[in-house]
Amino acid sequence: MNQDQLKQAVAQAAVDYILPRLERNTIVGVGTGSTANYFIDSLAEHKGLFDGAVASSEASAERLRQHGIPVYDLNAVDRLAVYVDGADESNAQLHLIKGGGAALTREKIVAACSDEFVCIADQSKWVETLGKFPLPVEVIPMARAHVARELVKLGGDPVHRQGCTTDNGNQILDVFGMQIHDAIALETAINQIVGVVANGLFALRAADVLLLGTSTGVQTLRAMQA
Ligand code: 5RP
Repeated sequence: MNQDQLKQAVAQAAVDYILPRLERNTIVGVGTGSTANYFIDSLAEHKGLFDGAVASSEASAERLRQHGIPVYDLNAVDRLAVYVDGADESNAQLHLIKGGGAALTREKIVAACSDEFVCIADQSKWVETLGKFPLPVEVIPMARAHVARELVKLGGDPVHRQGCTTDNGNQILDVFGMQIHDAIALETAINQIVGVVANGLFALRAADVLLLGTSTGVQTLRAMQA
């Protein structure tokens, strides 16, 4: 199977995973990216079984609406039972790097409001040590240079993602050269930099389950202790 087929397989596996929990009043948290898009397309086949969705980006909201799935403002709903989203990297603790699609802040917010975070990824995203994928950091535009200088002090090599404005009107720094051995500590340290809106480490709120698409099938993984 190629990468796209693996993404489709994990998207379908995520629908199968959440299907028994869908009730008429269920609102599903939906992520962003190509794997999440496959999930939206598969979820749409069951749209009569649940109420609607909260989306982590304008793009996903639009795709959901095109399928006739109602999209709710997060402020209008209580907690979400489940959030399904892709990732750029995952380690064995299910600490993630996300934000390749620049939606990291809203993804983090939706994940924080969800009882269960189901991550869906093809095997290329599985890593021993996080950091080969450049870590996205969303910044308030006027703080970009300041945040970049602080990220250098943390050992990174930040690069402004050209031509990218987030759904929140902010900018992205992609931080290269990080070998992330303590994701919780680094996530916390970056959060302390004035001007940072959010960073793409999902360790303080890691995934609960990873559905990993491999050439031998979809594996269901739960976090291993450090
Ligand atoms: C978007 C994300 C995506 O989940 C991540 O980039 C993975 O994308 P894809 O499913 O297209 O490989 O974090 O901000």
